[in-house]
Amino acid sequence: MRTAVVLGTRPEIIKMSPVIRALEASKSDFFVVHTGQHYSYDLDRVFFEELGLKAPLRNLGAGSGSHAEETAKMLVGLEAALVEGGASGVLVEGDTNTVLAGALAASKMGLQVGHVEAGLRSRDRRMPEELNRVVTDHVSDILFAPTTVARDNLLAEGVERARVKVTGNTVVDAVKQNVELAERSPRVKALDGVGGGFILATIHRQENVDDKKVLSRIIAGVEMVSKKTGFVVIFPAHPRTRKAMLRFGVSPDPLLVRVADPVGYLAFLKLEREAEAVLTDSGGVQEETCVLGTPCVTLRDNTERPETVEVGANVVAGTTPVGIVKSAERMLAGKRKWRNPFGDGRAGEKIVREWRRRVE
Ligand code: UD1
Ligand code: UDP
Repeated sequence: MRTAVVLGTRPEIIKMSPVIRALEASKSDFFVVHTGQHYSYDLDRVFFEELGLKAPLRNLGAGSGSHAEETAKMLVGLEAALVEGGASGVLVEGDTNTVLAGALAASKMGLQVGHVEAGLRSRDRRMPEELNRVVTDHVSDILFAPTTVARDNLLAEGVERARVKVTGNTVVDAVKQNVELAERSPRVKALDGVGGGFILATIHRQENVDDKKVLSRIIAGVEMVSKKTGFVVIFPAHPRTRKAMLRFGVSPDPLLVRVADPVGYLAFLKLEREAEAVLTDSGGVQEETCVLGTPCVTLRDNTERPETVEVGANVVAGTTPVGIVKSAERMLAGKRKWRNPFGDGRAGEKIVREWRRRVE
């Protein structure tokens, strides 16, 4: 049995790292293929360096372009890379185009496919990620659901129970494995001169960023949160967002919101931990804040992580300034203590154990 781990973006590198560690610890035969979906140093290589991961066997250089272009390039490149590497099974994690391409290419080749973080549903088909989740889950052989909520989503879609294993989310493993190192990481430049508390923000979701009206509304909301609370907002901006702000000519007041380049994982974990609250449309950030005990305000109309809302760690604010400010005030006034719904930090081990049991 030879496993190919297919990954390509920032969150996949971070959340697959515990699975890669578990594959190494169990002396499994595996290799990593990178689709190249993310390629900028601060969305890609920095995580391999910080997490001590070996360079991928192949990088397909299939990043950017339209959804069709990107996915098509990946499918062609992956087929060849999987043959060349002698893969008999493929593991993918999450909901990006890389995940869709990895699962589709491998399943058409008759390889075993395991989907890590299966069963999440926003029920919002405007999101490319939702389409990727649904297709990936239904072509995969083994579905590693992080929670019972995710498992139940799969069962409700007619997936056989035997294909699903509840494992917890590897985000907890990654946080536990790195939080101490993160504490020792240097203070980010964007915090220079900030004496008191701060709020952290990230925005990159296609439906939030690629529409001038929505992006302007969200930025106005984030500025208002700063004005109302007196906390400066630190905003490490994804390149998609930077480009959109430039294209639309919208940028926040620098006295309220400090736009910065994306930061490494260790620095980001430290920011998340120290922030008074986090405003985000990121999936991984909703989970990490829930694990770290920092209140989260989700800048979207829905979430595929309802567990975070149920435990009181997160609120779905929508994308209007009023909604964002109200939600932020509510979360800032609330308690910072809740149950972690994402498992005990041993998801990577459980996934690899189950994967080997089923495919070997
Ligand atoms: C992708 C995922 C999204 C995930 C996010 C994680 C899909 C459909 N989207 O969104 O689910 O939350 O990654 O961050 O798979 N760019 C760079 N450098 C890079 C990568 C991208 O400058 O290394 C710029 C390019 O202009 C590119 C744009 O960002 O066109 C969007 O990149 P893309 O990978 O298509 O989508 P993300 O927004 O990163
Ligand atoms: N992250 C990071 N630096 C940043 C912003 C985010 O290291 O400047 C990490 C964060 O800790 C989390 C992951 O990136 O683990 C989330 O990725 P992203 O928001 O890009 O994608 P999503 O989770 O929404 O798919």
